Amino acid sequence: MTNQNAGIIGMGHAYPEGILTNADLEKIVETSDEWITTRTGIKQRHKAADNEYTSQFGTAAAKQAIERAGLKPEDIDLIVCATTTPDQIMPSTGALIQAQLGAVNAAGMDVFAACSGFIYGITMVESMIRTGQIKYAVVIGAEVLTKYVDYTDRGTCVIFGDGAGAAVLGPVPEGKGILATKIKSDGRYEEQLYCPAGGTKLGTTHATIDDRMHYFKMKGNELFKVAVRSMADISAEMLEKAGYSVDDVDIVIPHQANQRITDAVASRLGVAEGKVYSNIAEHGNTSSASIPIAMDECIESGKIKEGSLVLLTAFGGGVTWGGTVLRF
Ligand code: COA
Repeated sequence: MTNQNAGIIGMGHAYPEGILTNADLEKIVETSDEWITTRTGIKQRHKAADNEYTSQFGTAAAKQAIERAGLKPEDIDLIVCATTTPDQIMPSTGALIQAQLGAVNAAGMDVFAACSGFIYGITMVESMIRTGQIKYAVVIGAEVLTKYVDYTDRGTCVIFGDGAGAAVLGPVPEGKGILATKIKSDGRYEEQLYCPAGGTKLGTTHATIDDRMHYFKMKGNELFKVAVRSMADISAEMLEKAGYSVDDVDIVIPHQANQRITDAVASRLGVAEGKVYSNIAEHGNTSSASIPIAMDECIESGKIKEGSLVLLTAFGGGVTWGGTVLRF
């Protein structure tokens, strides 16, 4: 059986021009810039306009990633779109992006793992490249969360933002690329972050809309503790599996959930200050898009260079979590 190393060979990201600041939110719900900043680290988030939707941002990010990988859309065998906010329930956003890209030789599909979706996607694709089933894939995290946020619920509406990030994965030489990766979930915690209505369990009715059941609900406090433990533990496990210690890591890119979660994960792992990337102040929590956006920003600014050892870790609704160690 083929045993081909797989790695990220090009990245891109995109987000809406619209911005919602903490000052804007102060006019919508009873909150303050001070509360949001100290509890979350968020100062603003990008927000899609009414006529903008998830696949547009996913396609823009994927196009840039494919160009930077030196490939053409027709070279791509598989498009995996991680999203919790698809354009529509059917067809998949991955299929829509495939058409928008003109990736005529690719299959398109979605991964539904909330904020861990990007790590779910690269974990799946890595094994498909490793076994020779495919050569090139694009893994996208794309979200328009602001359309699922209840702007009467101050506990959730201050957190989420919109955007997309994409990575092209392909064959890389021995010792490079994804060295260890793992995904996990525990559906017993479903009600910590969920959308009660709009599916087959509780279909959309006038009553569910009146009760605002088609918006995300979150138990922030409970989620916080599980998130920190899960991300720190899986990170340590993946570093051990890859044969490295936390001191060997050049940069940690955690899911940008909340600055306090990031700080707590870093302290539990014992990562040196300055090695943990954060863009939460500018983007808020963009769910599955947060890691690829952050990683691409690091590549653009030179924080990630050829040969950098990178640790990715995510946690999200489900609950789901994952960790990846890669040599860029
Ligand atoms: N502005 C002002 N006050 C707010 C507020 C807001 N935006 N949101 C909540 N509050 C209030 C609450 O109503 C509560 O008031 P009360 O004590 O009078 O009832 C008080 O602040 C404390 O609420 P609590 O939910 O306990 O706050 P917290 O310290 O846990 O912080 C979060 C709330 C959401 C910031 C925090 O729990 C968190 O970050 N959780 C993780 C969320 C997350 O990252 N989710 C995505 C995971 S992928």
